[in-house]
Amino acid sequence: MPQTLSLDLSYLQELVTEQEIESYYSHAQNALESLLHKTGKGSDFLGWIDLPFTAEKQVSAIKKAAQKFEKCDAVVSIGIGGSYLGIRSTIEALGGSDKIHYAGNQLSPTGFNRLISQLSGKKVGLIVISKSGTTTEPAVAFRILKLWLEKNVGKKKATKRIVAITDREKGALKDMSNHEGYETFVIPDDVGGRYSVLTPVGLLPIAAAGFNISKLLKGAQAAAKDCNSTAVHKNPAARYAIARYLAFKKGKTTEVLANFRPELHYVSEWWKQLYGESEGKEGTGLFPASVDLTTDLHSMGQYLQQGQRNLLETILWVQKEKKDIVIPRDKKDWEGLNFLAGKKLSWVNEQAMKGTAVAHRDGRLPVIRVVLDDLNEYSLGYLYYFFEMACAISGTLLGINPFDQPGVEAYKKNMFALLGKKGFEELAAQLKEKGV
Ligand code: PA5
Repeated sequence: MPQTLSLDLSYLQELVTEQEIESYYSHAQNALESLLHKTGKGSDFLGWIDLPFTAEKQVSAIKKAAQKFEKCDAVVSIGIGGSYLGIRSTIEALGGSDKIHYAGNQLSPTGFNRLISQLSGKKVGLIVISKSGTTTEPAVAFRILKLWLEKNVGKKKATKRIVAITDREKGALKDMSNHEGYETFVIPDDVGGRYSVLTPVGLLPIAAAGFNISKLLKGAQAAAKDCNSTAVHKNPAARYAIARYLAFKKGKTTEVLANFRPELHYVSEWWKQLYGESEGKEGTGLFPASVDLTTDLHSMGQYLQQGQRNLLETILWVQKEKKDIVIPRDKKDWEGLNFLAGKKLSWVNEQAMKGTAVAHRDGRLPVIRVVLDDLNEYSLGYLYYFFEMACAISGTLLGINPFDQPGVEAYKKNMFALLGKKGFEELAAQLKEKGV
């Protein structure tokens, strides 16, 4: 059987050699053991390690809840950050869904008005997701959409078409759900937002979009077996973590995740949140950036090839295509492309990837390649767990707590103060003094 995921570090060797990677095996093993035995920083937030297995217990309840959305023509998934990105990443990577819409991930009236006009005349269901239950963006979106739905179909019907995913017992969303009688699912206390794609946060909307959540968990289970292995020389997550950590130590301050398929755009967005929020603290961490190739080779390609050499590139490549396209012959051959006639477009894309990787390596942009054999629920489940464990190991190597996000609070507090929220009067006065 082909490997679901393989890691190719051959184009990194001029910066980080295999010997250097091996010399860090014991550090990575210690980091991994501290995660598995819950002895490191942030050990209250390690519930994600067992999720591929523990989440299975909830699959039938989640599938049942998803069934009630079968009769809807549109389902709005309301959430932001960890309560949004894993959902969208999975749905888009698996081919997208005309049925699922997103809200609560920004505050633009234009975006909202567009959504409302798309929902008009449709039978709409809502999935509202907020771990804290107090985040402004989804709270505002839910208020608008809930009242809109109640106005359209009446309170009783609306209530039946709403599911809330939130904390077990606290927060405004939990209180509201109890009071209004919404069906609810729990985001476990010990799983942070960016690690929550395999909880009901991700599983319910993904199931409502018609994708197979059991296979997603099966893929993550296979990854857990490989990525929790303390035989780190065979552990792809440990090797990726060491490689990027050593690249960082050698002056690479930005890691660019590059994909070659537009459907992976949101996988990169999910990845950026995972690494940005986990490692970007205490003045350290690689800045996670992303490009969609070959599109961005015509915009960012110049910088990647010849700009500041503080970059590390990680190419996310998928081997199989669901349905290929063969390039046709044209009698006139105006563009001189007949030499490609009969070739598959996936093969052309692969040559673009290979050409890019070698050009970048030769231009002193070291390249790591993460190769998936296919793009389906199973391989995505594998990929998520691989990146999560690698992030946890790499954050532990950096010496920070990979599971908190104190920096996210700064803007939230200022915004509450500026909006006039109760309890933020002092901060509002300070901001006024600063001329805000
Ligand atoms: O990773 C995180 O914790 C954040 O990005 C949150 O997911 C985001 O702020 C949304 O929070 P909540 O689910 O509490 O509304």
